Amino acid sequence: MSCKTKSYDIKDLKLSSKGKLRIEWADNQMPVLETIRNRFKKEKPLDGVRLSACLHVTTETANLMRTLKDGGADVVLSASNPLSTQDDVAASLVEDYEIPVFAIKGEDNDTYYKHINSAIDHKPQITMDDGADVISTLHSDKPEQTKDVYGRTEETTIGVIRLNSMAEQKVLKYPIIAVNDAKTKHLFDNRYGTGQSTIDGILRATNILFSGKTVVVFGYGMCGRGVATRAKGMGANVIVIEIEPLNALQAVMDGFRVMTSIEAAKVGDVFITVTGDIHVLRKEHFEMMPDGAILANSGHFDVELDIPSLEKMSKSKRRIRDFVDEYTLKSGKKIYLLGEGRLINLAAAEGHPASVMDMSFANQALAAEFIYKNHNELEKKVYTVPEDIDKEIARLKLESMDISIEKLTPEQEKYLSSWEIGT
Ligand SMILES: NC(=O)c1ccc[n+]([C@@H]2O[C@H](COP(=O)([O-])OP(=O)(O)OC[C@H]3O[C@@H](n4cnc5c(N)ncnc54)[C@H](O)[C@@H]3O)[C@@H](O)[C@H]2O)c1
Repeated sequence: MSCKTKSYDIKDLKLSSKGKLRIEWADNQMPVLETIRNRFKKEKPLDGVRLSACLHVTTETANLMRTLKDGGADVVLSASNPLSTQDDVAASLVEDYEIPVFAIKGEDNDTYYKHINSAIDHKPQITMDDGADVISTLHSDKPEQTKDVYGRTEETTIGVIRLNSMAEQKVLKYPIIAVNDAKTKHLFDNRYGTGQSTIDGILRATNILFSGKTVVVFGYGMCGRGVATRAKGMGANVIVIEIEPLNALQAVMDGFRVMTSIEAAKVGDVFITVTGDIHVLRKEHFEMMPDGAILANSGHFDVELDIPSLEKMSKSKRRIRDFVDEYTLKSGKKIYLLGEGRLINLAAAEGHPASVMDMSFANQALAAEFIYKNHNELEKKVYTVPEDIDKEIARLKLESMDISIEKLTPEQEKYLSSWEIGT
């Protein structure tokens, strides 16, 4: 299919009017991105740059794409997860904003990679990833194209972990800006965004009462903290599983029970993984779990749950509700898997609220501008977002909330930069 001159692949163009209204609704909650967009419209800092983004196709991403296009970039978008695409948003981006999209909710693995390849065929000079799928496809399948890339941005923790290991092995072929590592990204998006939207996804999929349930959260990083705190706030008894002593200790001091995964498997009602690790829940856990246990993952990849083992242990499986698969084990016990083990906040809900994505995507837009301006000087390594960009985003967010903060007096400035004054 083609939109004006460009090709695209989405579910149904007729969904565009609903998508447009939802994009506008999200835009109301994204004042920082709007400020950047207004500047981009005037200054065109990305004039003529070919940019391929591989992000969750949501209303918030749509507003980022609009911002980049208004900044002069020639943008295309593919999905960063087969289940997270909002088909109405994809339709509106094509129909109303003339931005080519390659994404269909529920697409199979082949289509998912076909779509990523369509984004790569755009011959991008800047790429944006959420989970490093474009960069790994480019590096392994089309290495000759990497020489044309000025740089790229990465949205999530697991992507940054992979890129750091590519940099260490010296296989990285262009510079990266780790948007995830900006303070205005991970301290807010991962914590408050994933925290709220993971619970939202579980509730939309199941409509269970959290109050009184035993909820086991795997990982007490930024996402895990958000999930655990929100589950506790809803009246759940929360258990945290960690491998890092420091994070485990913080969980204890924040008032959570901390134990091993095997102990927790025996008593949990709802199990939520947010570690970025593999097979965090596996056969030995499924064997221990009470009848009716619910499993959800909000970490980037579905490998956090060992689904092949669950399949092997089961004598039957049926879809009992949208996003809920009931596995009946050979013992007769039932285990419920939500959203096929994929990011539950994006599969069954709408991902992070726009207000928090406002800061994450402000980072993306400014990081793209930074790459374009500085690409001649940047080396083939992973950079964090420059501190002045991070601080400016925090300042703009506070301003949009009509919050003024304290300023140092000249006396305080002098005092804080001196060492002579003692008791
Ligand atoms: N759902 C979303 O929308 C969303 C948003 C942001 C990040 N993510 C993803 O969520 C995951 C976690 O992100 P984060 O920012 O919290 O990372 P993080 O590094 O801050 O935290 C991960 C934590 O998991 C712990 N961990 C690792 N293996 C473990 C295991 N086997 N058992 C128990 N704990 C273990 C680590 O020690 C660490 O404390 C990543 O995959 C990230 O890409 C998802």
